[in-house]
Amino acid sequence: MNVRGHHFRTIWEDESGQPIVKIIDQRHLPHRFIIAEITTVDEMATAIRDMHVRGAGLIGAAAGYGMAIAASTSPAGPDEFLQEAAAKLVETRPTAVNLAWAVERQMAAISAAGCHEEKIEIAWRTARMIADEDSDWCRRIGQHGLELIRALSRKKGGAPVNVLTHCNAGWLAFVDHGSATSPMYAAHDEGIAIHVWVDETRPRNQGAKLTAWELGEHGVPHTVIADNTGGHLMQHGMVDLVIVGSDRTTRTGDVANKIGTYLKALAAMDNDVPFYVALPSSTFDWSMRDGVREIPVELRGEDEVKFADGWLDGHPAEVLVAPATSPAANYGFDVTPARLVTGLITERGICPANEAGILGLFPEHG
Ligand code: MRU
Repeated sequence: MNVRGHHFRTIWEDESGQPIVKIIDQRHLPHRFIIAEITTVDEMATAIRDMHVRGAGLIGAAAGYGMAIAASTSPAGPDEFLQEAAAKLVETRPTAVNLAWAVERQMAAISAAGCHEEKIEIAWRTARMIADEDSDWCRRIGQHGLELIRALSRKKGGAPVNVLTHCNAGWLAFVDHGSATSPMYAAHDEGIAIHVWVDETRPRNQGAKLTAWELGEHGVPHTVIADNTGGHLMQHGMVDLVIVGSDRTTRTGDVANKIGTYLKALAAMDNDVPFYVALPSSTFDWSMRDGVREIPVELRGEDEVKFADGWLDGHPAEVLVAPATSPAANYGFDVTPARLVTGLITERGICPANEAGILGLFPEHG
């Protein structure tokens, strides 16, 4: 996607040919656009854990590149170094399944290598493949999701289609295009009038900081709203469609996404607003059937809830919001049961959120 007229992906290899990976450090957006270099597995693990990079697809791609850096910096011989690197990366964030998926894919690919040089070559090739696939799958999600927005636009006689989204399942959460935002970009690029309600998404405000910035850079009309606004808007006919992303979706269609998503799905169901989830196939967990009981929900530090950060007089600033002595709980994600989901938008098309529907598009997992 474009930033000030230049095309960027969220992660890329250094032009020098050295084992260096570059990322957009998302902690500084929307106020500063900072590119950082990653040269070790530990740096990549920190970047994922502390959310310099975040979002399911991007942390999958980052883990893929982390394993490539591990291959380049590992001593020749037994694979212990790579196994340690894999474990280090996987434990950084538990909910998004793309992370473990990418690391397992790397380990399987590397195990086929005959010698040290070949390991390095395979690991970089696989990392590249994971990133390119992610971008391509998100682009396809956009084309399928576009049909939904096109139909709503026709029904409204060309009046703006109001889409609500939660958190950031935009291009910053993937390698390019995004999942939930990809249909929005496709519709906007086709000249369809759309307007996006952007949930601020406390505690880290990925909606207010990242989604709003992305949409603004692309020229898509949008409005940032406090997290609890969606229900009111739906009751008053001001939301035509909800599209969110996912960090892990079971084979039965239960969807883990950023905390607060479940409440939007309940409000959507109560108001007959279609609620769609956009995800690439790398976000399915084919081993799970019951999302509420089985999906691990990340518990993060309490300061993310107690403090708010932003930009003041040209500098980053942080303020304490809650009483310093009050404890806080910071559940990163919740699970929306499949019964509340109208459909899943994947790179292979749109399907109902149930096992038969999902396997209809992905029969190889039957
Ligand atoms: O904690 P984050 O920012 O990594 O959370 C991930 C998300 O941005 C959302 O849950 C998103 O909607 C799904 S990831 C594509």
